[in-house]
Amino acid sequence: MSTAAIIPAAGFGVRLGGEAPKAFREVGGESLLVHAVRGLRAATAADLTCFVIAVPPGSEDVVLKLLEPYVGTATLQVVAGGTERTDSVRAALDLVPTEGIDCILVHDAARSFVPVAVIERVVAAVRSGAPAVVPVVPVTDTIKRVDPVGKVVDTPDRSALVAVQTPQGFEPSLLRRAHAAEGLGATDDAMLCERLGVTVQTVEGSEDAFKVTRPRDLILAESILAERRS
Ligand code: CTP
Ligand code: MG
Repeated sequence: MSTAAIIPAAGFGVRLGGEAPKAFREVGGESLLVHAVRGLRAATAADLTCFVIAVPPGSEDVVLKLLEPYVGTATLQVVAGGTERTDSVRAALDLVPTEGIDCILVHDAARSFVPVAVIERVVAAVRSGAPAVVPVVPVTDTIKRVDPVGKVVDTPDRSALVAVQTPQGFEPSLLRRAHAAEGLGATDDAMLCERLGVTVQTVEGSEDAFKVTRPRDLILAESILAERRS
């Protein structure tokens, strides 16, 4: 049995700014998307045999050529993404083979530096029987719930909160059922599974799996890469 990886990479990266869509922005001379693919490939225990990448419409051919050298023996398909992240994942999911895959990973191109150990933990948990798995890290800020005019409603107990990363791992038929349902307002794929009443399991994530979101995140990314290359 093997794993398929869906990479939503179709966002523009409004908060990051710049000319090119975020997945094409470079760190250490290579795009975030290339770093993300290489990271997944390095997780050999995942047995990745299939990549499906959702990209900004019109860039499909360019991305196919760009990534071909990095996928090894795995298959590579590239599809136009949609308006929301959920639409992009759904478009990619339609291309994942229905046979021979026991785990589907959904991994943000923008979390380009996730360590191998995190990827392998997620896949191992799915293979051990958890239908939906997310890597998490503790929340360091105090989080408050606020009303529409900015007044604090309450302060959830921080020890019961975690920040969620990717790759998220799923038993394939569950992910398909989750995406067949209404996806409005979903900010990750696990949330769609929760809406079906499925219990989502957490595994330990990593600070290195942070999402490149704002310009200063590129500085952190450069420094992680430099550390790994030294
Ligand atoms: N994504 C996608 N399709 C969309 C929106 C987002 O495939 N319609 C992808 C992004 O490319 C990214 C991941 O989902 O890899 C997480 O999204 P985010 O970090 O929010 O990226 P952007 O939406 O590009 O950034 P911003 O919200 O700042 O515009
Ligand atoms: Mg976004």
